[in-house]
Amino acid sequence: MPESYLWRVVTSELRLNSSVVIFVISRRFTIIKYLIIVILFFVINIAHGHIWLDDVECSGQEQQLVSCRSSNWGVHNCKHEEDAGVICDTQNYDSTQRTQSDSIHSLDHSTTLSDDLGKIFDSGTACDFLITFQTSTGAKQEDGVPEETMTTICAHKAILMLYPYFNASVGENNITVTVNTTCQSYSTSIIRYLYTRQINVTYSSAMCLHQLASEFGLRKLLEDVGQVISKSLPDDASFYSQVSLYKYAVETKDLILRDSCIQYLAWNFQNLTSSPVWAELPVELLRVLLTRSDLVVPDEYFVLQILEGWITNNDNSLSSENQVDLLRLVRFPMIPAEKLYKLETNSSLFSAHRDLYRDSVFKSYQFNVLLYSSLIESELDKENDNYNPRIYTGNTWSIAIDSSKSSPSQRLHQYQPHRYGYGSHLYSQTPPSSSQKLLHTSLHSIVVCEDNKVTWAANIFKTSNECSREGVHCNSVPAARLTQRNNNLRRNIRFDNRLLLTCQNRYICQIQAFHSDMAHIDQALVYPCPDDNYIYTFVVRPEFV
Ligand SMILES: *[C@@H]1O[C@H](CO)[C@@H](O)[C@H](O)[C@H]1NC(C)=O
Ligand SMILES: *[C@@H]1O[C@H](CO)[C@@H](O)[C@H](O)[C@H]1NC(C)=O
Ligand SMILES: *[C@@H]1O[C@H](CO)[C@@H](O)[C@H](O)[C@H]1NC(C)=O
Ligand SMILES: *[C@@H]1O[C@H](CO)[C@@H](O)[C@H](O)[C@H]1NC(C)=O
Ligand SMILES: *[C@@H]1O[C@H](CO)[C@@H](O)[C@H](O)[C@H]1NC(C)=O
Ligand SMILES: *[C@@H]1O[C@H](CO)[C@@H](O)[C@H](O)[C@H]1NC(C)=O
Repeated sequence: MPESYLWRVVTSELRLNSSVVIFVISRRFTIIKYLIIVILFFVINIAHGHIWLDDVECSGQEQQLVSCRSSNWGVHNCKHEEDAGVICDTQNYDSTQRTQSDSIHSLDHSTTLSDDLGKIFDSGTACDFLITFQTSTGAKQEDGVPEETMTTICAHKAILMLYPYFNASVGENNITVTVNTTCQSYSTSIIRYLYTRQINVTYSSAMCLHQLASEFGLRKLLEDVGQVISKSLPDDASFYSQVSLYKYAVETKDLILRDSCIQYLAWNFQNLTSSPVWAELPVELLRVLLTRSDLVVPDEYFVLQILEGWITNNDNSLSSENQVDLLRLVRFPMIPAEKLYKLETNSSLFSAHRDLYRDSVFKSYQFNVLLYSSLIESELDKENDNYNPRIYTGNTWSIAIDSSKSSPSQRLHQYQPHRYGYGSHLYSQTPPSSSQKLLHTSLHSIVVCEDNKVTWAANIFKTSNECSREGVHCNSVPAARLTQRNNNLRRNIRFDNRLLLTCQNRYICQIQAFHSDMAHIDQALVYPCPDDNYIYTFVVRPEFV
């Protein structure tokens, strides 16, 4: 078995011309052997940026960091105090000690190079390579030939040789690129980018620049522009553009953009299922969504019902094996036993896939009544996610606090029901100085834990005053706290709770883990939210370990 390592990645806020990525390795893991580490420096508070990845597990064979298993983009439970930075280099590290006299003094006068190369491009002097952008206007000429417009840019072979796409090093001296009318207007700026590696990106130019970056093989530009595009994911309430962006990201092999689309759809899954594109969702996209533990749904029974509906709808185009493959991704053990009991009569696909349902229900019953430890020893695959919860926002496991509705003078007894509904909260007896609600859950969803109740206190601290009044140490505000009130613990159950931020009651823009009961709201949200009025949803997630 390959050794696995836990990494964390921090980026300072995204800057397109110099996006900084710091690879961070958690202290308890040994230095990675397959990356040759030139400098390893431990710095307290190394970065203030967004923490992009946590719990990253790599086998060592991966070509890219995104290929490693990890918590999803932007989901983490760590603070910057734990950062350690490394700079990675492809050179072999020369471990021999250098003496003072032969130590290297690097001189770098390249800072103005980009501007100078830009001037060469702008002047067009001595250019020797023609790049023609050709666009069909859509109109036809008198002889029926489609009308075309051309933009020709004169560039320099010496620069274009850096980019294999142009074939400048094998004697070509011109190429023609076909683009649409919209993208033709960005032709100059993208060729200029080849000289300067600098470009300004807006939401309106992003799709064209992404497409051209993909065509020209400009990996870094592709991924950074993809990040800009992913910020616009919440803009379309119909989910049409998110799904087509997913398909496009797969085509252009932009893995980060693809993951960002998948994550947005997983977080906003409930709305996706009631959108017009749901019925025609590509099956491979549905499959990857169903594998995810960060799928935000009221409960697992919802997943089963919605999937049965989708399969019934796509019955003609889906083989029986494919249907079973999809149904296997439902986490039956997470469905309450009394619902499992009624599946035979209530499930529309039960008779069509009797074996699968019977088998799944039987295994779930076992899980419900036997001790997890004995199941693990016998047959349960510990790696199997079927026994772990997703993010369940139904009122059994979650509670919501609407930050826009809590000013100090009118805080008590005025919370409106959240759209997922909640039943089991109480208001605290004395007016709290932060927004607080109580939540009662079981220790776990399985039958043997049903009467084992846990009480949780959920708080939102909007100002540092509120933190200090309650003696809470907040690194930043707003911050959320979810504490267990009674000490009802079992050694083999741990809670991997989540905080969800819903923007303007429209979409989930951020999901965070708790770290020692606290979650500090990151300034750089995964998906932007125009104002700071969130609905905070606290989700309790018990897991067997
Ligand atoms: C570059 O050359 C390769 C091999 O001859 C060819 O397949 C490719 O289309 C050329 N690129 C362009 C942009 O013409
Ligand atoms: C484009 O290059 C080809 C050879 O690679 C050459 O035959 C042709 O004349 C060139 N066209 C222009 C407009 O320079
Ligand atoms: C980007 O925009 C800024 C501000 O308008 C401008 O100063 C800068 O030259 C632009 N950079 C490029 C590469 O176009
Ligand atoms: C042109 O292509 C871009 C990038 O693929 C796309 O976003 C845009 O909608 C297209 N414009 C037109 C007019 O087709
Ligand atoms: C089963 O179906 C009936 C009628 O459609 C419904 O009233 C009942 O709530 C369903 N039971 C479950 C567990 O979903
Ligand atoms: C999601 O669904 C809720 C409730 O139906 C609705 O208020 C909200 O606008 C939806 N959000 C999007 C992005 O469609």
